[in-house]
Amino acid sequence: MSTSALHTSASETHIGPTLRLPSRWPSLLRPNVLATAAGPTPFLLGSTELVTSKLRRFRSAVPQVQPFYAVKCNPDANVLTALAADGCRFEVASLGELDLLVGLGVHASDVLYSNTVKPASHVKGAAELGLWRFAVDSAGEVAKIAREAPGSAVYVRLAVDDDQSAFPLSRKFGVDGGKAVALLLEARNRGLRPYGLTFHVGSQSTAPSAWTTALRRVALIAAELLDLGIHLDMVDIGGGFPAWYGTPVPEIEEIGAAITRGLESLPYTPDLLAAEPGRHLAAESAVMVSSVLGRERRGGQEWLHTDVGAYHGLIETQQSPSGWPYPLWTSRSDHTTAPSLSYVVTGPTCDSADTFLDRALLPATMAEGDRLYIASAGAYTLSYASSFNGFPPPQARYSACGTSRTRRQVVPQPERAVRPHSVG
Ligand SMILES: Cc1ncc(COP(=O)(O)O)c(C=O)c1O
Repeated sequence: MSTSALHTSASETHIGPTLRLPSRWPSLLRPNVLATAAGPTPFLLGSTELVTSKLRRFRSAVPQVQPFYAVKCNPDANVLTALAADGCRFEVASLGELDLLVGLGVHASDVLYSNTVKPASHVKGAAELGLWRFAVDSAGEVAKIAREAPGSAVYVRLAVDDDQSAFPLSRKFGVDGGKAVALLLEARNRGLRPYGLTFHVGSQSTAPSAWTTALRRVALIAAELLDLGIHLDMVDIGGGFPAWYGTPVPEIEEIGAAITRGLESLPYTPDLLAAEPGRHLAAESAVMVSSVLGRERRGGQEWLHTDVGAYHGLIETQQSPSGWPYPLWTSRSDHTTAPSLSYVVTGPTCDSADTFLDRALLPATMAEGDRLYIASAGAYTLSYASSFNGFPPPQARYSACGTSRTRRQVVPQPERAVRPHSVG
């Protein structure tokens, strides 16, 4: 058991002004809609319409690029089905995610496998299902793919500047330009198809220029590869597109313009320009509905214990040094009239590390039984949630318009479809 990772200071709590609903709270999931959602908490109430409208806006902001939704972000079947029905393709991190897609009728041959270090059995299983494009960033992985999925296409992940993202990834993944060239040559020598380059500017990036800079690096490498007889079929600009969490982020159109500037530097236009948006499409599509289990005063601070916590989907609050500012509201009828108070909000387990909010401004009147609504909770929540301490993970309740209809929860399919068929 760990100790609290979210450090709370013992400062005095102060009665503050009354609260207003955060400005970009989704209209399909307004508090009056949430109030009609019956059933035991916690659950994630979501609207697939909010996901597909983000997809459509993404497409018009970045028209050159084909979106491949990153399944890891939110693997709910209703979300995946709605995206597939809108023509979106997918990126997976494991065979389990691919099985899930195939079970929903997605063609494995349309899917990208962008986790750069994969279990050998997943490579083999994915290839058997018809997936043929794998990311790599090491010679060992090139050898593994040549062994387990001979003749496949590989794309190399570059490490890029991700300083202005909330969740940097380039320490763990990616290589420099020289190594990328060497890996693609090695792939060719091993009978694989040297297919492309990819990068990820870090999740929740707030710097549109990160895509321009990364693409300019890709352009230099593509020119060098051309001299070596390798023409890239794909450039994949990864994920990182931000979502709204209560504070302003660049609009997708601004990022689209930065991507266009970067694409202009490429020596030629590859057949496929791909992106792997996750958070941007899913985060704002759902509100976590939880209940207050108890209220205590400890160390000069007001504490609310709720039936969700870091272990039940809200772990991102602990991955960011300054916490994670989920927009909040409650079921209290006096929410707009009661003075506000700063609370520490913690989860239901016996571990203090499930504390997920410090200084959350909520009505001073909060009490056991009130519901806490946590907005922008559609990304990296369901997929992270455990049943630690015997508390079940939040149930996913996605529907087309944000009504309270319960939809089936998705788990990876135990059996693989022999022959994938298209979503109908
Ligand atoms: C390979 C890859 N692609 C795409 C994504 C999705 O990123 P985001 O949710 O920031 O768009 C991730 C997230 O970790 C990733 O690892």
